[in-house]
Amino acid sequence: MSGRYPKLWEPIMVGKLEIKNRIVHPPTTTNFASATGEVTDLMVDHYRRIAEGGTGLIIVENTQVKYPEGKNVVRQLRLDDNKYIAGYQQLAEAAHLYDCKIFQQVHHAGRQTDLRISEGVQPISASESTCGIMQTTAREATKEDIKDLIERYSEAALRVKMAGMDGVEFHGAHGYLICQFLSPYTNKRTDEYGGSLENRMRFLLEIIERTREKVGPDFPICVRYSVEEFVPGGLTLDESKEIAKALEAAGVDLLDISCGIYESMQTLLDVMDYKEGWRVYQAEAIKSVVNIPVICVGNIRTPSIAEKIIAEGRADFVAISRGLLADPEWPKKAYEGREDDINKCISCNIGCIGNHVFADLHCRCTVNPLLGRRKEYVEITPAPEAKKVLVIGGGPAGMWAACAAKMRGHDVTLWEKSDRLGGTLYLAAAAPGKGKYIWPKAYLEKKLKDLDVKIELNKEATAADVGNMKPDTVILATGAVPILPDIPGKEKAVQGVDVLSGKVKDVGDNPIVVGAGLTGMDLCVVLGEQGKNITLVTRRTDQYLLTDGPGVDMEPIHRYWLFTTKIPNYKLKIVPFSTYKEVTDKGLIVVDKDGNENLVEGDTVILALGFTPNNRLAQELKGIVPQILTVGDSREPRRIINATYEGFQAGRMC
Ligand SMILES: Cc1cc2nc3c(=O)[nH]c(=O)nc-3n(C[C@H](O)[C@H](O)[C@H](O)COP(=O)(O)O)c2cc1C
Ligand code: SF4
Repeated sequence: MSGRYPKLWEPIMVGKLEIKNRIVHPPTTTNFASATGEVTDLMVDHYRRIAEGGTGLIIVENTQVKYPEGKNVVRQLRLDDNKYIAGYQQLAEAAHLYDCKIFQQVHHAGRQTDLRISEGVQPISASESTCGIMQTTAREATKEDIKDLIERYSEAALRVKMAGMDGVEFHGAHGYLICQFLSPYTNKRTDEYGGSLENRMRFLLEIIERTREKVGPDFPICVRYSVEEFVPGGLTLDESKEIAKALEAAGVDLLDISCGIYESMQTLLDVMDYKEGWRVYQAEAIKSVVNIPVICVGNIRTPSIAEKIIAEGRADFVAISRGLLADPEWPKKAYEGREDDINKCISCNIGCIGNHVFADLHCRCTVNPLLGRRKEYVEITPAPEAKKVLVIGGGPAGMWAACAAKMRGHDVTLWEKSDRLGGTLYLAAAAPGKGKYIWPKAYLEKKLKDLDVKIELNKEATAADVGNMKPDTVILATGAVPILPDIPGKEKAVQGVDVLSGKVKDVGDNPIVVGAGLTGMDLCVVLGEQGKNITLVTRRTDQYLLTDGPGVDMEPIHRYWLFTTKIPNYKLKIVPFSTYKEVTDKGLIVVDKDGNENLVEGDTVILALGFTPNNRLAQELKGIVPQILTVGDSREPRRIINATYEGFQAGRMC
């Protein structure tokens, strides 16, 4: 059977191991490990779901070869002792239930950690250096360290084999220890492990040699490495091709091609603005110089694009990391030709990495309320009796609520006051670089249609109308409204949301944006791209890398990308440590931190001062409707990830 997209479904050999299709779930740290580094039931179930969804090969998230020195997140797996092996055995068994092959990535963070994560142990690197992001100085590895680490990497690989997994991957990418040795950016050594490319590769090649001795000739070895680092003096494709040839000659069976290091984070955890499959050229370049299979990765979201990559021979596998967090059934749905049923990852990085794994939390997903949650908390069971459920508001919370309630067997109606569904998704998608925020709308609309939920557009809810309908449950998902401060001249100002939505079209050439939160920063991008002279008034500092600087509420990788690649091109002046006092015909009177009043001149004052819940109906419906559930921004203005989850849960539990 070839299914839809026949090339994606062609089996392929990695060494002597057959993989049933070309879809790989690359290593994706979840923080689902225990606090002491063991595999947990939650983690086993997570990978089981991905295997069940049809993926051919899972490469499990990175595990430590040396604890705690080599740790890169607080809840990272360990494999530095035999006592951890049994957990990996469970992972292997879970994947094998579905004929999915499973490799384990082994890892040492090198300098890309800090003392908090490494539990006070100073990090090591190829040379003494400080990662620009982690800001912790690593010491140079001694020859004894190198010898010890080679032993540890190969021991970990042997444990992977002992666990019954199908192969091992060495993490030589993303600026971690092996990458630090490979790269002239971080390797300044003058001994046989530094200098020439041959010397910089020595550490990795010795790891492979020692591993082969331990795991035998047939156990697949994969290497993931960053073929372009996108930092001055970092690895480039030319050198990376030479590395590929050396790895093949050393007996490596599979190359997993990635890019970037922490200091070019937006490339390795591709921000939303990057096109689908933008970095396939890298895998293609590597594939042109080797005969072993090559994996490509990077914002691949659509089956037809994945198929094309394989069909054109640009890579042998497509890796889908976040795409399978958003929808583990991606492969199955692609195979069955149900592309429109795929809940596509929007590359927001909020749920999975930036605001979760990097913030010591479990991995979550903006568009998938099920991710990382135990079955008993997300399972939809038939309701004991069918109720009449009215959902008010057609944004993400309302759409999820309506779907989940209908799946329980309730009689569901959704009212939306505007002429379209989507709500806040439109606002989130308004700024250049954030367009994918609208994607969940199509997915949810299709789901609502398939479930046959009754939808009434242009229907503004009143207490009387709701009363007449006599619902058993109302799920209020009416969103939030922008805050209008009570200051003199406020009627002369416009709301940022109205500029983003296009309702206010003309703000002149010299707009003043008040507030440096999410809306304020989106406005800076919209207006910056139009070449306007923007003044941004903020009570925060103007130093964006400081945590309380502009855009502090943004997802950190998007923020880093914005401030390093976009904002420098805009005509943007920041007025820090200032609050608004009065809107005048000339602009905005602000008060600085010393209490001085200053006039900031400009054409239009645009307010971006946050939101307040729009839940007036909740009060009015008390006593009229037996059950009222308030979800999403109408409960408390927050992110779309909260709307998704709360909407889903309200529908599931009503
Ligand atoms: C939450 C998260 C954790 C990740 N953890 C790892 C990891 O442990 N090892 C690794 O090599 N890459 C890791 N990555 C990078 C992914 O494997 C992948 O290369 C990247 O997300 C781009 O692919 P995608 O667009 O399909 O998500 C991680 C990415 C995310 C989003
Ligand atoms: S949180 Fe965002 S980036 Fe991460 S998997 Fe979900 S949609 Fe994709």
